[in-house]
Amino acid sequence: MLPTGFAPHDLYHQRFRVEFDYPVAFVRGAFSADDATLAWAVARREPERRHPVFVVLDGGLAAAQPGLAASVTAYAGRHAELLELRAEPVIVPGGEASKNDPALVTELLELFAGARLDRQASVIAIGGGAVLDAVGYAASVTHRGVRLVRLPSTVLAQCDGGVGVKTSINGFLAKNFLGTFAPPHAVVDDFALLDTLPLRDARAGMAEAVKVALIRDPAFFAWIEANTAALSRAEPEPLATLVRRCATLHLEHIAQGGDPFETGSARPLDYGHWSAHKLEIISGHELRHGEAVAIGMLLDARYAEQSGLLATRDLERLAALLAGLGLPLYHAALGEERGGKLAVLRGLEDFREHLGGALSVTLLSGVGRASEFHEIDASRVEAAIGWLRERAGAT
Ligand SMILES: NC(=O)c1ccc[n+]([C@@H]2O[C@H](COP(=O)([O-])OP(=O)(O)OC[C@H]3O[C@@H](n4cnc5c(N)ncnc54)[C@H](O)[C@@H]3O)[C@@H](O)[C@H]2O)c1
Ligand SMILES: [Zn+2]
Repeated sequence: MLPTGFAPHDLYHQRFRVEFDYPVAFVRGAFSADDATLAWAVARREPERRHPVFVVLDGGLAAAQPGLAASVTAYAGRHAELLELRAEPVIVPGGEASKNDPALVTELLELFAGARLDRQASVIAIGGGAVLDAVGYAASVTHRGVRLVRLPSTVLAQCDGGVGVKTSINGFLAKNFLGTFAPPHAVVDDFALLDTLPLRDARAGMAEAVKVALIRDPAFFAWIEANTAALSRAEPEPLATLVRRCATLHLEHIAQGGDPFETGSARPLDYGHWSAHKLEIISGHELRHGEAVAIGMLLDARYAEQSGLLATRDLERLAALLAGLGLPLYHAALGEERGGKLAVLRGLEDFREHLGGALSVTLLSGVGRASEFHEIDASRVEAAIGWLRERAGAT
């Protein structure tokens, strides 16, 4: 309907669609002599010409895999008919530091300009979710978006952020304050990159796989249960299966969930996250994101059970699975008070603001079944925290 006072010729309603598509390839040893996936991914639209590429490498990954930068250079040399390396791979600090320092984006932009990257050039980002976010952000504002090819190097990034459509850095005291929606040109999930990931980080990444299984895919949940022991040791084969399935569920959600650029307020993939975000901060980042998510998922599962939504045996299945994977089920940060109130409850308020005003929290009604709720009872949350604390004390 037109606003009052508007004649039809005073208003033109613009509307168009843009289609996005990108491959996500799963390989082991992307830079080995017999693997051409990455060169294909870069050149996939114009395989008849050479493509300028600029490689940025996560410093933590580069330290753990000292030969990696040289392997990348050698790979570009072997595929010189498709790839034109514009500079030696640039190494940037790994982890959240890369998103906290705005100077890094400026440095990257200077390097991109110096390498004379055009709009069809590709930035290849290799690293954890934080480096991918920061490099992706710089790439997405260069010429309003150059091509970004990601090689995620953590379980979390291979399952989740690295295959998705978002970039960001932190700023103005807020996480991910600056960022863009910018689908990548291609993603290569190389399982060999995970070989040096510390076990604790691998397990933390698995918490996100448990999460998507829990809200979307009961068969995947049962598969994780059947492979718990091997996964808790991050054995390569089951880990690769977990990453493949988890990444696929994320990709399906982006393509079929109806809201790829997150304009609405329902965020089912944020299950267990309202408290997790807060717990990371209250614990002074003692808890990894995935560890906080494990605790947050169990908290919300107990809440759902006490609300009569979830069967007790499903709650116990979740608790047993998380414990079996070596994930924490409690942290003292849960019980911390500020001004006579549990500090974690502030997370509900933050979550409401983050969603744009209306609270929407995903709760389970079974393994593989979830729905949205718009009110959360603080005293029931407190009781659920008490239950988590008692269980932790008892074990
Ligand atoms: N864009 C999105 O949609 C999205 C989604 C989820 C999370 N994220 C972001 O991802 C970030 C977390 O990413 P993360 O969990 O991948 O960790 P991370 O990027 O913070 O990396 C953790 C540490 O591991 C090191 N590292 C990376 N790969 C390694 C390897 N293979 N071997 C040894 N060390 C390695 C890094 O240098 C770093 O020190 C957060 O900033 C979060 O906001 C983004
Ligand atoms: Zn998460």
